[in-house]
Amino acid sequence: MMNQVYQIHIVQNEQEKADAMSVRRMVFIEEQQVPEDLEIDEHDGDDPSTLHFVAYAGDKPVGASRLRSYAPGIGKVERVAVLGSERGTGLGRQIMLMMEETARLRGYRKLKLNAQTHAQRFYEKLGYTPVGDVFEEAGIEHIAMEKTLS
Ligand code: COA
Repeated sequence: MMNQVYQIHIVQNEQEKADAMSVRRMVFIEEQQVPEDLEIDEHDGDDPSTLHFVAYAGDKPVGASRLRSYAPGIGKVERVAVLGSERGTGLGRQIMLMMEETARLRGYRKLKLNAQTHAQRFYEKLGYTPVGDVFEEAGIEHIAMEKTLS
């Protein structure tokens, strides 16, 4: 069988935004039991400096993430999510690479993120380095990580 081909977009309209949010809802709120009022926050409003990403398999939204400004020259990667049915296919990496390319074009020199510790290896394979201690958020262990963009 041919490998699944994914289309990853920067969200440009209400439908794509709703599709991205539907993936985040399934992965974080339903699967990981993150409270809705923590998962959906002020950066999910109309702030044009926050970019949302959505990945499709055909018409079906299967992945999502968010990139926002953290400080001058520094971006923050958040809410990286792939539906359970598509994990291990390389989609998470593709989403990260698309975000990095977008971040470079926007002039970011560094990206930060807070990794769930179970996903630390996923980010390490993409060149992110842990910084600081493990902390808890929404009942889930996290560690801060960062990468200097080349
Ligand atoms: N532990 C260790 N390695 C992992 C991993 C994990 N949890 N998830 C992925 N990897 C590795 C893969 O084995 C692969 O390695 P390879 O390059 O040697 O083949 C590489 O990372 C890329 O994996 P990929 O298939 O692109 O990852 P994915 O599509 O399964 O997406 C997540 C990874 C973390 C986004 C996905 O598992 C997910 O959405 N999980 C639930 C939500 C979540 O926890 N998000 C992270 C919040 S910080």
